[in-house]
Amino acid sequence: MGHRAGRDPRLTTHVALTARALGAARLYLHPPDPELAERIAAVGRRWGGRFEVVGAPEWKKVVRGFDGPIVHLTMYGEPIDEVARAVRRSPRVLVVVGGAKVPAELYRLSTRNAAAGHQPHSEVAALALLLDRLVGIPPAGRWPGARQEIVPSARGKSVRTHERPTGAP
Ligand SMILES: C[S@@+](CC[C@H](N)C(=O)[O-])C[C@H]1O[C@@H](n2cnc3c(N)ncnc32)[C@H](O)[C@@H]1O
Repeated sequence: MGHRAGRDPRLTTHVALTARALGAARLYLHPPDPELAERIAAVGRRWGGRFEVVGAPEWKKVVRGFDGPIVHLTMYGEPIDEVARAVRRSPRVLVVVGGAKVPAELYRLSTRNAAAGHQPHSEVAALALLLDRLVGIPPAGRWPGARQEIVPSARGKSVRTHERPTGAP
């Protein structure tokens, strides 16, 4: 929430990339930013997976319409481990992070307000810490449709290129 198109493209891009890499299905971006959504779609065409960025002109519609627990990440919240334990069995969880200051109403509309430590840091770090507790790093096979895939190596960069995308996206 509170993305400032043109002002903080790098930080919001990192929110999207982190959500994608740690197994989220989609990012609802408020306010919408079609250019950012396209940049992330291009990452998916290259590296696979089904992650998408969906523009959300009205954030309350996303929150009110969501069928599952809503976890708002804020340094003022309850400890992240407690919240993660409470929601981790839910098939769908909506995680909310802010860019600029978030509306006070969000604290009330969220199922839980969760803090990754009670010090200010970053939406990217908070998101990564929660997703790691909820789903962990996805295994290599989780990226259907990939044209490129990294071959882990102790030194240097090794990338395998597929002539046809792996599996069906
Ligand atoms: C740089 S902070 C903005 C803080 C803003 N000044 C406010 O009062 O909400 C951006 C976002 O990072 C996340 N964040 C920062 N520190 C956090 C923490 N310790 N625990 C959980 N989330 C945190 C929150 O989602 C917050 O909206």
